[in-house]
Amino acid sequence: MAPLAHSILVTGSNRGIGMELVRQLVEMTDPPEHIFATCRNPDGPRGKALHDLADKHPNIHVVQLEVEDQSSVKAAVPVVESHLKGKGLNLLINNAGRNSCTLLLEDVDQQDMLSDFSTNVAGPIIVVKEFLPLLKRAATETTTEELSCRKAAIINVSSLIGSIGGFDVSVPPMYSYRSSKAALNMITICLSVELKKDGILCTSVHPGWVKTDMGTEKAPLTVQCSVQGILKVLANLSSSSTGAFLDWKGNSIPW
Ligand SMILES: NC(=O)c1ccc[n+]([C@@H]2O[C@H](COP(=O)([O-])OP(=O)(O)OC[C@H]3O[C@@H](n4cnc5c(N)ncnc54)[C@H](OP(=O)(O)O)[C@@H]3O)[C@@H](O)[C@H]2O)c1
Repeated sequence: MAPLAHSILVTGSNRGIGMELVRQLVEMTDPPEHIFATCRNPDGPRGKALHDLADKHPNIHVVQLEVEDQSSVKAAVPVVESHLKGKGLNLLINNAGRNSCTLLLEDVDQQDMLSDFSTNVAGPIIVVKEFLPLLKRAATETTTEELSCRKAAIINVSSLIGSIGGFDVSVPPMYSYRSSKAALNMITICLSVELKKDGILCTSVHPGWVKTDMGTEKAPLTVQCSVQGILKVLANLSSSSTGAFLDWKGNSIPW
């Protein structure tokens, strides 16, 4: 089977869904040549599990990247470039996220709103902006017009509860988180339109409700199961899936 992509960058990969993405990518029968496992504090205690994994796999490169700090994002680009040795970056997975859990209107706090938007909206768009030259380069390396993760793609890890069209009244409003993911979805659509001519696909993916620090133990889905599904979905993305909002099983979600 062809590799999902030759080079993949994952933000927020030191725990949760990001860490499991890196773990399953490296265990594929045909793993990516380069996996850039980024995290904001690689040398702190939270980076240890990622370093332990990277020590066993030379194709994992641990890279410092704080999505809220543009200078950190900018500094990560030449580090990634130095490993790619003239080649482009095929797949960027904007996974890092935050949920300040302001459940009801009475809980809403300006700083929480700004923090969720900073991580979940401003973060991903800045990461795309800074890595765009490497994504564009990757897109020119394949002759096929068909969009795919093997060519060049951006995946924004979004959430079903950011859906306006499929608004779920059984879930608390969670104003800051839900509105930040709705905004991220708008970014996905804008990018899919703007970058189509450059051969770059952009899709929002909902991982399911997953047992992680964010999803909590109450979640029905294991992180292993969610990521297995996500990776299957990514392998099947094509020109028709750019600008789509899909769940971890590949089902379409209303915006
Ligand atoms: N779990 C679910 O049920 C669920 C459902 C729908 C969508 N999602 C989305 O899936 C993605 C991953 O969630 P998760 O469940 O794996 O969450 P998680 O276990 O809380 O992990 C979040 C990850 O994001 C990183 N991160 C947070 N802020 C960051 C920043 N400013 N810069 C760089 N990294 C940052 C964290 O790093 P630190 O360790 O440094 O904090 C951590 O690696 C998120 O976008 C989330 O919104 C999750």
